[in-house]
Amino acid sequence: MNRRCCVILAAGDGKRMNSANPKVLMQVLFEPMLGWVLDSVKQAGIDDGQVGVITGSSADKVAEFLAKKGAYRTFLQAERKGTGHAVMQAETMLREVSEVGGDVLVLCGDAPFMDAKTIQDAYEVHKERDSDVTVITANVSPAGNYGRIKRDKNTALLDSIVEMKDCSPEELKITEVNSGAYWFKSEKLLWALPQLGDNNKSGEFYLTDTVELLKKKASTYMADDSIIVLGANDRRQLRVLNDMMTEVINSRHYIAGVDIIGHNVIIGKDVKIARDTVLMPNTIIRGQTEIGSGCVIGPDTQINNCKIGNNVKLNCVQAFDSEVGDNVKAGPFVHIRPGTVLHDNVKIGDFVEVKNSEIGEGTALAHLTYIGDSDVGKNVNFGCGTVTANYDGLEKYRTKIGDNAFIGCNTNLIAPVEIGDNATTAAGSTIAENVPPGALAIERGQVNIKENWYKNELRKNKK
Ligand code: UD1
Ligand code: CA
Repeated sequence: MNRRCCVILAAGDGKRMNSANPKVLMQVLFEPMLGWVLDSVKQAGIDDGQVGVITGSSADKVAEFLAKKGAYRTFLQAERKGTGHAVMQAETMLREVSEVGGDVLVLCGDAPFMDAKTIQDAYEVHKERDSDVTVITANVSPAGNYGRIKRDKNTALLDSIVEMKDCSPEELKITEVNSGAYWFKSEKLLWALPQLGDNNKSGEFYLTDTVELLKKKASTYMADDSIIVLGANDRRQLRVLNDMMTEVINSRHYIAGVDIIGHNVIIGKDVKIARDTVLMPNTIIRGQTEIGSGCVIGPDTQINNCKIGNNVKLNCVQAFDSEVGDNVKAGPFVHIRPGTVLHDNVKIGDFVEVKNSEIGEGTALAHLTYIGDSDVGKNVNFGCGTVTANYDGLEKYRTKIGDNAFIGCNTNLIAPVEIGDNATTAAGSTIAENVPPGALAIERGQVNIKENWYKNELRKNKK
């Protein structure tokens, strides 16, 4: 039996973002603002199927994002008539929860700092006091555009929420503001919503007006950190949110024993990093990336969706959807493309690209090399300028190289091709046939030497 559900308001367009995308899909640290909110709700223990997102502007784009994220419900608000009107669209879900005497959490889809702890702590206060509504508030000074929390002069109990546009000069001075997040008894919310009017400066049905209707059993929960109220209306504010979120995320990593040197280290929300790893400047780590301990990552490195072992050194590396074992060293100027597995102790030097390949333990790709669609054994040595020719213009083929093979400088390996264990290819060879284990493959034109050529040519040209 589900006694809790959540309504997330996400129908607004956010014109000032000047974007083809709706505001809730604008990103903070590579994740749409709505994604941050959804993750906090999940962390607070509310199932996806109990979360209803109110969509309106670019509803199809929001729905597409939601489908990738989980089994969420959506409710279309065809016309934007205010936050109260928006919540009403989820009536069916509210009724289901009301029937079992449950509660509903209402959140704004554009407030990415709202966290699971605040949601949970507010819920506990809401239950303890048996309130009909609990408003999550914060102290913000100056209070800007936020709705003001108005209290009874004598009892100091919550009286109502007054929108900034509708405030008297006296009310404008109030610094306790409405975060836009609330817990309601579903039954009481359903009772209050149809009573809302739109007789205010915006001509909208304000969700905040339900508070006055429920004030007999209304309370507040003040968040520890006022950061939870923050949202963005334009790109400049979005930039500020990104900077603040970077501070929040990086601080978590400091506490977990990670060093971040200098500036411009940007870490995505789901990234995990073990202690004693050092991140150097101009490094971006994102997606479902995990990094072990004792690593030095950066400078000038980008990692997306990679699993990286312990004591790895990546200097000026771009790595995507790949796995990197322990004690691997790579860089500078290395591109590790999707589907690559680098086993322990692999060494990669400058200007090397590896794609969709498995590279065995202890193998070295020192410089200027392209390895694509290959299965490479242990302790193989690649000379400078090795190229796997994996594509004939129509199809891709694999290259197999056995353990301890020695690939001479400037070898072209024309796939499909197999180089046996302990085999050697001579420098400058183009290898289009399999090389048996232990063999030397040499493919070279004869060298023609023309003595005194330089002098004679010069004389001829002078005349
Ligand atoms: C709202 C609150 C205000 C609070 C602030 C916190 C009201 C009347 N006011 O104001 O007290 O301090 O949030 O950020 O609720 N939305 C819809 N459909 C609509 C209107 C809005 O889905 O018809 C969504 C928006 O996309 C947004 C959220 O509701 O995600 C809040 O709406 P917004 O217009 O930004 O409200 P505020 O004026 O910020
Ligand atoms: Ca807002």
